[in-house]
Amino acid sequence: MSASGAKNAALPLMFATLLAPGPHRLGNLPRLRDIRTAEQLLTGLGARVQSENGTLQVTTDALNGKEAPYDLVRTMRASVLVLGPLLARCGRARVSLPGGCAIGARPINLHLKGLEAMGAEITLDHGYVEARAKRLQGARIYLDTPTVGGTENLMMAATLAQGTTVIENAAREPEISDLAVALCGMGARIEGAGSDTIVIEGVDSLGGMDHQVMPDRIEAGTYLIAAALTGGRIKVNNARPEHMEALLSKLEEAGAECSVEEDGILVAGPREILPVNIKTQPHPGFPTDMQAQFMTLMTLCSGSSMITETVFENRFMHVCELQRMGADITIEGHTATIKGVPGLLGAPVMATDLRASACLVLAGLAADNTTEISRIYHLDRGYESLEEKFRSLGADIERVPTAS
Ligand code: EPZ
Repeated sequence: MSASGAKNAALPLMFATLLAPGPHRLGNLPRLRDIRTAEQLLTGLGARVQSENGTLQVTTDALNGKEAPYDLVRTMRASVLVLGPLLARCGRARVSLPGGCAIGARPINLHLKGLEAMGAEITLDHGYVEARAKRLQGARIYLDTPTVGGTENLMMAATLAQGTTVIENAAREPEISDLAVALCGMGARIEGAGSDTIVIEGVDSLGGMDHQVMPDRIEAGTYLIAAALTGGRIKVNNARPEHMEALLSKLEEAGAECSVEEDGILVAGPREILPVNIKTQPHPGFPTDMQAQFMTLMTLCSGSSMITETVFENRFMHVCELQRMGADITIEGHTATIKGVPGLLGAPVMATDLRASACLVLAGLAADNTTEISRIYHLDRGYESLEEKFRSLGADIERVPTAS
């Protein structure tokens, strides 16, 4: 089976079309709620958007809006990624502050600090960020934390700035490299994307984008963990090993057999799941977006595992749901200790955020009896037809209409 296009690559790529009139073409888009929200946001800004069979045609020659409204931003925080492109292209932007979300406060102070360093005038008004700049100036920007969205916002803004911008302590996620490839295809001059120092030489204008979104490494990883968890064998055809080294090495440490083939990655689950300790880190460390799914694997390990979440302050909400299924987990600060149990018990559980809902699906696949997961709209934000893909792998899973 194959992973769909990566949500976390597709969203910044869609907003990068604001940097130039186009026409732009973006292929391999996943069919997800967040993608539809991003299309709505582009249309609201005056872009002409046509989407069919996972390919988006966009022209932004008649941008009239400059605002990302609160009702869109609060449903999808990635909307703040219009800030850099709008400021660079139109000289002003008005974006609602995203506010916190289930997994943490999610501030954007580093996005704003970087834009100010590039000469933008930033004011806060009624929960909105007002940003203005005649023309952004290249600057040397140090990011206190390697923020993914901050790196993307600043890299996009810098493509049209006057002079050269250096982003130090930049995030290194593969989605950033994918964005840089697309931007360079539009005529941007970017070096070092994927490393902790990115150098962008501003140009006066950019051409159209023509790009295919990279495969979703988090979705792919979720299926590979499912193989390890159930003792099955799953091959994800378009998974790229260079995007998933941390996960693959931890799956091997847990006793799974991982083989990298030229057209994908195959994982065969072990008879005995060995305990593994995890500490989430910015890429290339173990991804925070895989923490909940890996914890499900550890609930059935033959010992005790410690998982420490260092990226977000509140990303253990799946723990109490797993405990309802018989998992033995205790939390101390940012570290969860998971003592393996012989088996999980099916139960009604509730999804709290995107990756937590994926971990509950995995737990349901491994548990005895039936597990009902409510609030799966969280799941639909980041996984395209998950139940069909799992059914094709032999899972007994179906989507049932919620009781009215
Ligand atoms: C991106 O979020 C992803 N979302 C997240 O995936 C992912 O978990 C996260 O990166 C980390 O890898 C998208 O790409 C759309 P950050 P982002 O800015 O950019 C702090 C999923 O499940 N920070 O790298 O919002 C922040 O509080 C989602 O698909 C500041 O302090 O993450 C957090 O602790 C969830 N100030 C840490 O950095 C800032 O200005 C990492 O946040 C910005 C961030």
